[in-house]
Amino acid sequence: MDRIQLDYTHILADSIGAPHGLDEQSLMALAAPSMAALAAVQARRTTDLRWLDLPHQDEMLDEIVAYAASVRGQFENVVVLGIGGSALGPRALHTALNSPYHDSQPPADLPRLHVLDNVDPDWIGEFLAHVDPHTCLFNVISKSGSTAETMSQFLIFQKVLIEALGQEEHKRHVVVTTDGSHGVLRPIVEEEGYASFVVPEGVGGRFSVLSPVGLLSAALVGIDIRGLAAGAADMDARCKQAPFEENPALVYAAIQWLMQSEGDKNIAVTFAYSQRLRDLADWYAQLLAESIGKRLSRDGQEVFVGPTPVRAVGVTDQHSQVQLYAEGPADKWFTFLSVENSDHTITIPKAYSDRDALAYLGGRTLNDLFEAEREGTRIALTEAGRPSVDVIFPKVNAATVGQYLYMMELAVAVMGEHYGVDAFDQPGVEAGKIAAYALMGRSGFEERRQEIEASSGTTAKRI
Ligand code: PA5
Repeated sequence: MDRIQLDYTHILADSIGAPHGLDEQSLMALAAPSMAALAAVQARRTTDLRWLDLPHQDEMLDEIVAYAASVRGQFENVVVLGIGGSALGPRALHTALNSPYHDSQPPADLPRLHVLDNVDPDWIGEFLAHVDPHTCLFNVISKSGSTAETMSQFLIFQKVLIEALGQEEHKRHVVVTTDGSHGVLRPIVEEEGYASFVVPEGVGGRFSVLSPVGLLSAALVGIDIRGLAAGAADMDARCKQAPFEENPALVYAAIQWLMQSEGDKNIAVTFAYSQRLRDLADWYAQLLAESIGKRLSRDGQEVFVGPTPVRAVGVTDQHSQVQLYAEGPADKWFTFLSVENSDHTITIPKAYSDRDALAYLGGRTLNDLFEAEREGTRIALTEAGRPSVDVIFPKVNAATVGQYLYMMELAVAVMGEHYGVDAFDQPGVEAGKIAAYALMGRSGFEERRQEIEASSGTTAKRI
């Protein structure tokens, strides 16, 4: 199996100099606390952190593969209704592992994938106007079943389906991924007789990409989900017990912690040098932000911690963000996602050999240029004293993507130990959800509505 690697050469003072580089001793001083953090996380593997074990759930994989095979060729569109952890994984898998032209020119028998993770009426309205419900399989994904965005979409599309297809036939067009026993959706699944998959206990939204949340839509659009699981299992084996200096998840987590706590680098930029990996950077942004951005420490002290994730795409953002990254405030560190071997090799034609500005390109490949641009950016950042690491993908395939997903999930869980916060809750998101319920008149939230109304006396300043 191709294995991803973490290269942290350019985070070290030896490469980028002081004061922004890490001295290797301070990194190695985190070996013992990191091993303790890993043990604390692994101790919860069979209780509340069961996402750690998802790569080994063969029965779950068999069920998903069997369902995908059973509906093969029946639908032109798979539509994910979900948000946050219930949407970013499905999208990232599709863009990483299918052709960028999959949705405009779907391969025979495979549907397009739409991930509708917004309730913007213009977006949903255009979808309703352009996509025929007869051609769609809706995968409603919500662990809680109470997320207003997903549930409002479910109600809208259920009505459209029933009107278009009738009560009985509409059921064939819905598959629900939700909690096995709790929440609002499970009883609806049973009442309606929808096909369904379970978000297992101990698998939170942003740690659910390797559960049916991410894998069902992936299998439906033709992705090798066994390959993803095998990659994740390989990373599990690499990181479960390995010593700090051989453990990419632990070293990555330690670097994140040191970059912020000692280096004042409050911004963590994932710089994907791969069009296909750009949505993995989006997926990671949520994982990091929701897990580590916290007001309270685990012992209840106000700490207001957390790195701010930023996504950038090479080479595109060289012409947009890199000026800031190289010369602006030294408040960022960088993770390059680099791909060693592309699927395509494209040669730049030789022409205008008398013009220096073009002649050097002729006969070289886009692959050479892409690599030179990435290295050029790194060299510029390194010379400017801006720390970076590389996650190197020998190739982008199911196995390497599975490894990356698992490595980052484990790294973030371990970061929770370094930062001293609960990486698995999201009270700030819940607060916004509750305010929205109150504003929408949900019963049980009347008091909150009154509080909001009472505090909305501020005179608007609008020009
Ligand atoms: O990571 C999380 O827990 C959140 O981002 C959730 O995935 C998101 O809020 C959606 O929740 P649910 O799946 O319950 O609809």
